[in-house]
Amino acid sequence: MTADTAFEPWHVSASRFPGDEAAPEERLRFMLSYAILAPSSHNAQPWVFRFHGERVGLYIDRTRALPVMDHHDRELTISCGCALLNLCMAVKHFGNKVIGQLLPDSARPDLLALIGIGERKIPDHECNSLFGAILRRRTNRMPFEKRAPDKGFLERLSHVAQEDGAWLHVVHGKQMRHAVAELIAEGDRFLWHDARYRRELAAWVHSNRSESHDGMPGYSFGHGDLHSLLDPFLIRNFDFAEKIAAKDQDIAEHSPALLVLGTAEDGPRDWLHAGHALQHILLHATAGGMAASFFNQPVEVETLRPRLGQAIGRMGYPQVVMRLGFGPDVRPTPRRAVREVVRGG
Ligand SMILES: Cc1cc2nc3c(=O)[nH]c(=O)nc-3n(C[C@H](O)[C@H](O)[C@H](O)COP(=O)(O)O)c2cc1C
Repeated sequence: MTADTAFEPWHVSASRFPGDEAAPEERLRFMLSYAILAPSSHNAQPWVFRFHGERVGLYIDRTRALPVMDHHDRELTISCGCALLNLCMAVKHFGNKVIGQLLPDSARPDLLALIGIGERKIPDHECNSLFGAILRRRTNRMPFEKRAPDKGFLERLSHVAQEDGAWLHVVHGKQMRHAVAELIAEGDRFLWHDARYRRELAAWVHSNRSESHDGMPGYSFGHGDLHSLLDPFLIRNFDFAEKIAAKDQDIAEHSPALLVLGTAEDGPRDWLHAGHALQHILLHATAGGMAASFFNQPVEVETLRPRLGQAIGRMGYPQVVMRLGFGPDVRPTPRRAVREVVRGG
């Protein structure tokens, strides 16, 4: 494997679609090229796919779990929900309705969804634009411009979340923003003081030259080649809690838009909905020329999660905290190829 193969998945081209005459399995296999470009916590890419006749099953890959930061596999499931949205968007873009079932239940907890190709339907402009955004979406941790996304656009994102079975709260007013930013900093301190958290994170942070097909290269945090070589060692061995807390608090407090995505309940099905909604929102933002990054610390620390809900005055369960704005271009992160995530064929 060379470093280049880690970025090949981003070069997928719709012109290589096998065509409507091809068997559903062949078409779905091609569409998985878009599913795997989804974001995931620590870029763990916790998904595998299996074909069941003319449908493809999306399975959560718990060998890629992050037990310290995400011990209920909540973010793991949300990440799979993001991949699911991409797959559904691809089915629609290539001209069909989605036949879909969201499945997580206690009998088969790892099978999250079964997706098939339904009857013909010409995709509308929005679908094509969101599909195009799959290749351009990035998590962008660089400084954002001051200008804020427009109010109408944020309202639209709230509707998108609702349609997907989630809610989106726009953190407004100085006081509420300050309260959320303080919770982010408190979350940073809690997590970074824990050596097990740092060890888990360090395992997924790689040097810029790494050939790994997953994880986060140093450049995704704005680090140069030399710094990135030291990152895993530094993260594992030093508690940077205060520095990171102060930085995140400042960024969150001055974000052009600060958003909390949540759900009414808090089970695997809700997490899948949250992931679907998250990726839908991220694609809308990308299509609108915007970028996003995350501050999930107050959701990851169990004692802070209810306080986050109170701070924004929402019932239910916060799932993801993110900022939205206009940022510089950033590079994509590595991905495993489709052949690495399809099992049994
Ligand atoms: C559910 C979820 C939670 C995430 N939480 C954070 C976070 O708290 N902080 C962060 O910097 N990135 C977070 N990320 C972003 C991932 O690190 C990122 O998606 C991954 O490294 C792949 O990079 P890409 O999004 O640029 O493709 C999160 C992503 C997902 C899907």
